[in-house]
Amino acid sequence: MSLVIKNLDAPLGAEISGRDLSKPIAPNEVKTIEDVWRERLVVVFHDQKLSDPQLIAFSKNFGELDPPGPNPYGESFLKDHPELNVISNVVENGKPIGNLGDGEAVWHADMTYVEVPPKAAMLHSLEVPPPEAGGNTYFANMLAAYEALPAELKEAAKDKIAVHDASTNSAGMLRKGYKAVKDVRETVGAHHPLIRTEPTTGRKALFLGRRPNAYVLGLEVSKSEALLDALWAHATQPRFTLCHRWKAGDLLMWNNLSVLHRRDPFDPKTRRVMHRSQIKGNERIH
Ligand code: SIN
Repeated sequence: MSLVIKNLDAPLGAEISGRDLSKPIAPNEVKTIEDVWRERLVVVFHDQKLSDPQLIAFSKNFGELDPPGPNPYGESFLKDHPELNVISNVVENGKPIGNLGDGEAVWHADMTYVEVPPKAAMLHSLEVPPPEAGGNTYFANMLAAYEALPAELKEAAKDKIAVHDASTNSAGMLRKGYKAVKDVRETVGAHHPLIRTEPTTGRKALFLGRRPNAYVLGLEVSKSEALLDALWAHATQPRFTLCHRWKAGDLLMWNNLSVLHRRDPFDPKTRRVMHRSQIKGNERIH
């Protein structure tokens, strides 16, 4: 059966059905998925059941895997597959089996605190809370956000470089080996332009990474805060976003350089277990 593509009724996102992703996929199918990913930024597959080696094999169709960044506990969640991450609130034998707990994960793009951030991420849901318990994930289209940016904000952001904080994860937990940031001018992390230009298409996108501890180089702290607040308020408006309500067996693949994502908190009495891969980027951000 061939791939069936349906754009979601949102400013980004498409569902692809008709394929069991646990089986090898043909080069023409890889190209189709990649084209949809590039154009619609978030690709949603339902009813999948991938083991860790199958998730790795599927992910590798799109490039070399980028291992997860440091987590608060200082060791991989999957000893046999350190190239994968686990996102979960489940605690077994007194130890979290995954990252981010059950609280909100604030808007962010993944690992933009490194010089060459991953270009894509995959998240495969193994166990999810019931729909009323929370835990939805939202994606915001940064190409659309840039296009709709008021002229004065475009001008204010033009040619500005920001530092992307490496010290905390999106749940606000300090990563192992980092100190809490007290002054944003001392934030540790990669420096990237606020506006990114896609090398192949020339399209521009906002490139914001994460709000906590961000700082626009060369500005007074109050001016940096005001500019970042205005850009973040603009970029995360509902008119640029997609809400994904998880079912077990979903596999989402997103364009990490052109979207932000965040997660709602969820009922801590429920279980949520997701395995995650990411694909190395091949560009510094320009
Ligand atoms: C993440 O930020 O990678 C996790 C998103 C989620 O838990 O839905």
